This record gives sequence, C-alpha cells and structure tokens, in this order.
Amino acid sequence: MASEKEQLSMLSLACVLIMLVQEMSYLASTRSSSKMEVEALLKWKSKLDNKSHSTLSSWNGSSPCSWRGIICDSFRSVARLNLSHSAIGGTLQHLNFSHLPNLVVLELTNNSLFGNIPPGIGDLSKLTYINCRQNNFSGRIPTQLGSLRSLQTLVFNENKFNGPIPSSIGNMSSLRNLDLSSNQFVGSIPKEIGMLGSLNILVLSTNDLTGSIPTTLGNLSTLQDLLLYGNHLSGPIPLEIGGMRSLTRLQLLGNNLTGHIPSSIGNLTNLLDLRFFENMLSGPLPSSIGNLTNLSNLDLSRNMLSSPIPFSIGKLINLKSLSVFRNEMSGVLPTEMNNLTSLTILQLGANNFVGQLPPEICGNQALVNFSAANNHLTGPIPRSMKNCSSLYRVRLQNNLIKGDITNALGVNNELYGELPPTLVQCRNLTSFKISNNKIFGVIPPQLGNMTQLQRLDLSSNDIIGEIPKDLGKLKLLLELLLDCKLLAGHIP
Ligand SMILES: *[C@@H]1O[C@H](CO)[C@@H](O)[C@H](O)[C@H]1NC(C)=O
Ligand SMILES: *[C@@H]1O[C@H](CO)[C@@H](O)[C@H](O)[C@H]1NC(C)=O
Ligand SMILES: *[C@@H]1O[C@H](CO)[C@@H](O)[C@H](O)[C@H]1NC(C)=O
Ligand SMILES: *[C@@H]1O[C@H](CO)[C@@H](O)[C@H](O)[C@H]1NC(C)=O
Ligand SMILES: *[C@@H]1O[C@H](CO)[C@@H](O)[C@H](O)[C@H]1NC(C)=O
Ligand SMILES: *[C@@H]1O[C@H](CO)[C@@H](O)[C@H](O)[C@H]1NC(C)=O
Ligand SMILES: *[C@@H]1O[C@H](CO)[C@@H](O)[C@H](O)[C@H]1NC(C)=O
Ligand SMILES: *[C@@H]1O[C@H](CO)[C@@H](O)[C@H](O)[C@H]1NC(C)=O
Ligand SMILES: *[C@@H]1O[C@H](CO)[C@@H](O)[C@H](O)[C@H]1NC(C)=O
Ligand SMILES: *[C@@H]1O[C@H](CO)[C@@H](O)[C@H](O)[C@H]1NC(C)=O
Ligand SMILES: *[C@@H]1O[C@H](CO)[C@@H](O)[C@H](O)[C@H]1NC(C)=O
Ligand SMILES: *[C@@H]1O[C@H](CO)[C@@H](O)[C@H](O)[C@H]1NC(C)=O
Repeated sequence: MASEKEQLSMLSLACVLIMLVQEMSYLASTRSSSKMEVEALLKWKSKLDNKSHSTLSSWNGSSPCSWRGIICDSFRSVARLNLSHSAIGGTLQHLNFSHLPNLVVLELTNNSLFGNIPPGIGDLSKLTYINCRQNNFSGRIPTQLGSLRSLQTLVFNENKFNGPIPSSIGNMSSLRNLDLSSNQFVGSIPKEIGMLGSLNILVLSTNDLTGSIPTTLGNLSTLQDLLLYGNHLSGPIPLEIGGMRSLTRLQLLGNNLTGHIPSSIGNLTNLLDLRFFENMLSGPLPSSIGNLTNLSNLDLSRNMLSSPIPFSIGKLINLKSLSVFRNEMSGVLPTEMNNLTSLTILQLGANNFVGQLPPEICGNQALVNFSAANNHLTGPIPRSMKNCSSLYRVRLQNNLIKGDITNALGVNNELYGELPPTLVQCRNLTSFKISNNKIFGVIPPQLGNMTQLQRLDLSSNDIIGEIPKDLGKLKLLLELLLDCKLLAGHIP
C-alpha cells in the first residue's frame, strides 16, 4: 500500500496531467479556429457592399490579427471586432458567429448595417461588449441573447428594432449597461430586468413601450441612470423606486403615468436630475423631495399635480432648474424658496399660485429664464431682480402683480410705482412680458438701452405718460405691446 506522501504526489501529478491535456486541447481548438475565423470573416466581407470591400481591403490573406478593426488575443485568435464609424454596408446574416468562439468585443457603431441580429449571436459565450448603435438593424432581438452570461454592455440604440424586449434579457447577469433607446420596441418592460443586479445604466427611451413600470426595478440598487422617457407607459410610479439608491438620473417624461409621486422618492439622495414632465401625475409633490439635496434639475411640468410646493424645497440649494408649469398647484410659494439662489431656470406658470414671488429668487444673479405667468400672484416684482443682470426672458403676464415695485427694485422715487429703470442692467434681456397686471407709473426712457430686447409687453396695466423716444433705439424689437388708451404720444 502506497504511503500518504506517495498518494499525494500521485495526486498532484494527475492534476498537472489534466491541466496539460486541457491546455493542449485548448491550443488545438484555437489553432484550428484561426482558419475558421479567417473563412468566416472573409465570407462576411464578400457579402458586404462594394464600398465596404475597399474599406476592408486589408482583410486579405490568412493572418486576421493585422486586419483593420481586428484585435487578437495572445493565442492569435480574434478577440475584438471593432468597425465603428466605418460606413460598412450589409447584413450580419453571413457572419457565422460560431466560427468566432473567442470574440469578446463586437463594436459596430455608426455603420449602414441592416436586417436581423442572427440568433447565432447567442453562441459568443465570451462576449462582454456589443454595440450596434446607429445602424439600420430591424426585426426582433433574438431571445438567444439571454445566454450571453458574460455580457456587460448591450447597446442597440438608434436602429429600427421592433417586437417585444425578450424576458430572457434577465439572464444576462453580468450586464451593466443596457441601451435599447430610439427603436420601435413594443409591449411592456420585462419584469426580469429587475434581476440584473449589476446594472448601472438602463435606457429604454423613445420606443413604443406600454404597460406599467415593473416594481422589480426597485431591486436595481446599483442603477445610476434610468431613462424611460418617450414611451406610452401608464399606471403609477412604483413606490419600490425608492430602492434604487444609486440613481443619479431619473427621466420618465413623456409617458402616460398616473397617480401620486411616491414619497419613497426621498430615498434617492444621489439624484441630480429628475424629469417627470408630460405625464398625468396628480396629488402633491411629497415633502420628502427635500431629501434630494444634490438635485440640480427638477422638472414636473405638464402634469396634474395639486397642492402647494412643500417648504422642504428650500433644502434643494443645488437646484439650477425648477419647472412646475402647467399643473394645478396652489397656495403661496414657500418663503424657503429664497434659499434657491443658484436657479437659472424657474418656471411656475399656469398654476393657481397666490401671494408673492420669493424676493431673493435672483439672489446670486444666476436667473436667466423666469416665468410665473397665468397665476394669481400679487405683490411686487421680486426685490432681487434689480441686480439680476443674467436675465434673458421674463414672463409675468396675467397675474395681479402690483404694489411697491419701485421700492422693491431699489429705485429712489417712492411716490410712484414705476417700472424700474434699473432693469437696464439686464443687458441680455430679450423678452419681458408683464401684461395684464396692476403695474403703474411711466415707462422709463432707460429701457431704450436694453438693446437685446425683442419682445416687450406692458399692455393691460396702469401705465401712463408718453412713450419715450429712447425706445426707438431698440433695433431688434419685434413685438411691442403697450396700452393705447392711457398712453399719450406716438410710437417712436
Ligand atoms: C459592385 O462591384 C461589381 C464588380 O466590381 C459591379 O459589377 C457592381 O456594379 C458594383 N455594384 C455597385 C452597386 O456599385
Ligand atoms: C490579396 O492578397 C493577394 C496576395 O497576397 C494579392 O494578390 C491581392 O491583390 C490582394 N487583394 C487585395 C484586394 O488587396
Ligand atoms: C473602437 O475603435 C475606436 C477607434 O479606434 C475606439 O475609439 C473605440 O474605443 C474602440 N471601441 C472598443 C469597444 O474597443
Ligand atoms: C459616422 O461615421 C461617418 C464615417 O463613416 C462619419 O463621417 C460620421 O461623422 C459618423 N457620425 C457620427 C454621428 O459619429
Ligand atoms: C455556421 O457554421 C456551422 C459549422 O460550420 C454550421 O453548422 C452552421 O450552419 C453555420 N451557421 C450559419 C448561420 O451559417
Ligand atoms: C437607414 O435607412 C434609411 C432608408 O431606409 C437611410 O436613409 C439611412 O441613411 C440609413 N441609415 C444608416 C445609418 O444606414
Ligand atoms: C396617453 O393616453 C391617451 C388616452 O389614452 C392617448 O390619447 C395618448 O396618446 C397617450 N399618450 C402617450 C404619450 O402615450
Ligand atoms: C427608504 O429608505 C428607508 C431607510 O433607509 C428604508 O427603510 C425604506 O425601505 C426605503 N424605501 C424604499 C421604497 O426602498
Ligand atoms: C429623508 O432623509 C432622512 C434622513 O436622511 C431619513 O431619515 C428619511 O427616511 C428620509 N425620508 C424619506 C421619505 O426618504
Ligand atoms: C436653506 O439652506 C440652508 C443651507 O444653505 C439650510 O441649512 C436651511 O435648512 C435651508 N432652509 C430651508 C428653509 O430649507
Ligand atoms: C450675456 O450673454 C453673453 C453671451 O451669451 C454672456 O457671455 C454674458 O455673460 C451675459 N451677460 C450677463 C450679464 O449675464
Ligand atoms: C444709455 O446708455 C448710455 C451709454 O451707456 C448712457 O450715456 C445713457 O445715459 C443711457 N440712457 C439712458 C436713458 O439711461
């Protein structure tokens, strides 16, 4: 009987032998696959259009490793096929994927390839990356894709794919980046996508997807970008959305989503960009929104949201753009909005807001585009607008704005509420509309120095006196609306 030592060394010898055998058979398979690879690639080339033949003139002979767009692995087997931006025209029908067993990267961005993705693509078991962006591929994407367990990137955007997104996609457990946007996919978002535990980017925007957002997406705790805009999705935003704790961009705009915005949204504290506009969302904006302190862009416009803006909005001090226009929001604008001094865009129009505009809204002189038209706002033009040289466009028409506007704008004359001469500092202002309010006083001649002004609408106010000659200096003016009945003088 052999000693323990002998047994051990026999065992390790056996191991070495097994490894050798494996290595040799691997080498043999890659060696023979090389000829197979050459034949497969040359056959594909022969079926491409004439222009591609000249583009691929280096595809000749028997060593593919030096051909255009091809990179081999250390066994001189084809590992990467990269023909991005090469104007290659034709189909993939004649590319026999089973002859390229070591392919890791398939990069075909921006060519003129059309037709189906052949089911044989499922044979490329080592594939980690496929990019077919900007081609003319069509038809359904094959369910066999689901067998690509190593695939990390699947980018099929800007093609003409149709049919449903196969649920087998949930089997691609290594997937990090899935982009199927700008195609014609129909049906619902497969709930199996929620099984892709490594997903960072999910882009299904601009398709014809229907049904509701699967609650399983809440499992995607590493997801950073969720872009589902421009589909026909309906039903509510699931409260499970609060589970996607890594989200930085959440864009659900341009769908038919209904119901309330779930307060679990407050869990998504990494969010920078939140766009829900053009849906049918109702109910209040939850106060948990104040938890999203990194938020830079919040766009909820064109929905049916009601109730006042929650005061917690004042915690969003990094907001650069806030749009809630065309909703049914009401109440006074919270004074906490004075905290939002980084805003460049503020759109509050077409709601039922009452009370005053927040006085410090241009406190950092960042505001460029400001609209609060079609509300029931009273009170003065915000005080901070007197130095708001960044302004480009102002829309305040159809409100009840009046009061001590001269004071608010730092003009010395306290006797009359006049349009502020200091507005001239807004050298970039192209459009100023404040018709149908209760503004009074005379038109300051200084307005003639706002040389970029194209649209000025002061009609339906209580403005009196002559039209200043200086307005004749506004060479770019396309539209000037004043009230004839009260104004004397003639148009310069
Ligand atoms: C492609 O090349 C072949 C032979 O060189 C020629 O007969 C054919 O007309 C060409 N086709 C086009 C579309 O240019
Ligand atoms: C391909 O290679 C052969 C010989 O190596 C050469 O005669 C031929 O001109 C080449 N064809 C092209 C299109 O480069
Ligand atoms: C493909 O080639 C282009 C141009 O050489 C390069 O910029 C790109 O990174 C490559 N793509 C991949 C996935 O290797
Ligand atoms: C697509 O590729 C062509 C070259 O075939 C190039 O001229 C063009 O700029 C590329 N388009 C884009 C959007 O990258
Ligand atoms: C690819 O090659 C294999 C083996 O040579 C063959 O069985 C199969 O039919 C080919 N597939 C296509 C689509 O040509
Ligand atoms: C796709 O096909 C259309 C016509 O069917 C053509 O106008 C367009 O240029 C093609 N796009 C690409 C990227 O080949
Ligand atoms: C939303 O639903 C309405 C009524 O069903 C329909 O007319 C409209 O086209 C839908 N909008 C979108 C973006 O799907
Ligand atoms: C939100 O976060 C809280 C605290 O971390 C957690 O208990 C809750 O389950 C989360 N909600 C969702 C919907 O993930
Ligand atoms: C808001 O944040 C606080 C503190 O981080 C947390 O306790 C609370 O659960 C969050 N609320 C929501 C609705 O996410
Ligand atoms: C205003 O912002 C400060 C931080 O700059 C914050 O501490 C404060 O809570 C905010 N106020 C409101 C009312 O949200
Ligand atoms: C006016 O617009 C120009 C060009 O867009 C910009 O460079 C400049 O900073 C603007 N001025 C102010 C005061 O915002
Ligand atoms: C317009 O600007 C010029 C030059 O900056 C200045 O001299 C003039 O007084 C200004 N006109 C008015 C009415 O403010």
